[in-house]
Amino acid sequence: MRPTIVKDNYNKPVNLAVLKFGGSVLDNAQAVHSAAHEIYRYIRRGEKVMAVVSAIAGETDALMELGAEIGGSDNAPGAASLLRLGEIRAAALLALALERIGLDARAVDPAEIDLRARGNAHNAALCGLDHERLLALLDAHEVLVIPGFSGVLDDGQPALLGRGGTDLSAVYLGVAMNAKRVRLIKDVDGLYADDPKHDASSQRFGKINWNDARHICGSSIQDHALEYARQHGLALEIAASARRFATRISPDCASAHAPARTRKLKVALLGFGTVGEGVYAHLQRHQHLFEISGILVRDADKERQHGAPAHLISTDAGEVFAHRPDIVVEMIGGIDAADAFIQNGFFGGADVVSANKAVVAANFDDLHKAATRAGRELRYSAAVGGGVPMLEALDQVREDGGVSSVQGVINGTANFILDRLAENCPFDQAVREAQEKGFAEADPSADLDGDDAAAKLCLMARHGFKVNLRVNQIKKESLRDLGAERIKAAQSEGKVIRQVSEIRRNAKGELSASITLQTLPRDHYLAAAKGEQNRLMIKAQNGKDVQLRGKGAGRWPTAEAVMADVLDIHRLRGQYEEKISQSAPEPACA
Ligand code: NAP
Ligand code: HSE
Repeated sequence: MRPTIVKDNYNKPVNLAVLKFGGSVLDNAQAVHSAAHEIYRYIRRGEKVMAVVSAIAGETDALMELGAEIGGSDNAPGAASLLRLGEIRAAALLALALERIGLDARAVDPAEIDLRARGNAHNAALCGLDHERLLALLDAHEVLVIPGFSGVLDDGQPALLGRGGTDLSAVYLGVAMNAKRVRLIKDVDGLYADDPKHDASSQRFGKINWNDARHICGSSIQDHALEYARQHGLALEIAASARRFATRISPDCASAHAPARTRKLKVALLGFGTVGEGVYAHLQRHQHLFEISGILVRDADKERQHGAPAHLISTDAGEVFAHRPDIVVEMIGGIDAADAFIQNGFFGGADVVSANKAVVAANFDDLHKAATRAGRELRYSAAVGGGVPMLEALDQVREDGGVSSVQGVINGTANFILDRLAENCPFDQAVREAQEKGFAEADPSADLDGDDAAAKLCLMARHGFKVNLRVNQIKKESLRDLGAERIKAAQSEGKVIRQVSEIRRNAKGELSASITLQTLPRDHYLAAAKGEQNRLMIKAQNGKDVQLRGKGAGRWPTAEAVMADVLDIHRLRGQYEEKISQSAPEPACA
């Protein structure tokens, strides 16, 4: 669920995750996209995220060299101003990566929250911050990205927190804001008795206390950070990105296990268009976890933006399935062929991720039955809301007491076109632009006439109300029927037209659903959706209102939601394999 900040009686947030990304994870600038996957994972669970980042690997050394070349000593006070720039740059890059997928992310300079340091300008300790300012920023944004490694001295000059100082930044912020979790994300999935890169049989700790951790950690966690966590009773998680297991450092006794090594999962991509190419690019950065075994397309000779090796591309579904993929990702659209491919995936023992609302809405029960029969997963988060986790939010509100009604802008193409029409763009050109930007369905009629939104409403009815709503039960109004008069009238009244999708219960408790074009005042929550943005208002039966917004269409937001499902399946599969290989499985830190 798109998180709102929940505070305890002391005005501290209770659903905050602090995630620290070190240089071993940010090993090149593109790795910020992998950090974004990790952040999105917690956002779609309804947590707020504060991401604390180190510099991209090698950048601090490069800055040191540059400083030495220009003059002055490494320990000169001015060198601290230079060396903190690596973290600032990484924070800005990560915020950009998060914006690309539609998250409301904000990079925050330590000086902005008065993150106070005291001591030596090159090895300082943190000693205070402006809580109110930080809370206000957390209230206003989904994700804050904070450069680690530095604070501000009383005289306003920057100070560095010593080697590994970003660990201290994360731990300090976690304690100060009463975070639900502080997770240090490294290149190994926990603490090991010996370095697993040198000894593959090394035991991994499921849990360990702070003092023991200090002895075995070597330099993998900063000493000051561990000591600060111990003093304040903060449990820390040490984990690798995209992995399920973590070592929990807390007062608990140590428990060590030989970790099961999960194998790479074979992934078949069905479709290599707007969404498919995005998922391909993400999987390419996760070659340690996944191997792409085949890519199904209609036209093998088409030029592709993210060129894939020719031997992977095929127009023959039989050939793609012959590689026995572990995961099938269906991104072709339509109903009949997609249904056959999904069923084929289950039959062959694969889990299936689909971005295709049309097929899941039309054949919901059959597809779920096929998944259950095969003992496999069916995931389709991207089918509704693009990068906005709408189905997850509906599940959560339903579980918390029930959904009363939903109202939203859930088709990015229609919203984009309505904005362009209001700018006096001709209808056909607006449609063409939406197609060029990758928002529209293969046949844009689905967007214009409300069929795409209708399929999404059917899935929302399943998740929010556990009701089997059929597409033909939904009243629809087409964008084609919107005359120039109505657009002009809205403009003259200072209002905006939106395609509004709704599900409500009538007095008898029956559901009714509609997709209508409504003229809304500019300050209406749905009126403020711009371009391809989606927005959703959920009224809960307990009287609460939940609002979500983000990018509802386009390559990167959609590929993010698909990737989140793929990574979830990897973690699930890892869990089973771990259970099989160990008689006493270690406790999981989900
Ligand atoms: P797209 O750009 O049109 O790509 C579709 C891909 O599927 C193409 O690579 C096409 O092959 C291939 N394909 C289509 N039918 C096929 C068939 N029968 N056999 C083999 N390959 C076939 O579509 P998209 O925008 O990526 O959308 C894919 C799915 O994601 C749709 O279900 C859509 O509703 C959903 N979705 C899209 C977005 C978005 O913003 N675009 C957002 C959320 C969900 P060729 O390349 O050879 O033509
Ligand atoms: N065509 C769809 C839209 C894609 O514009 O919303 C996202 O489901």
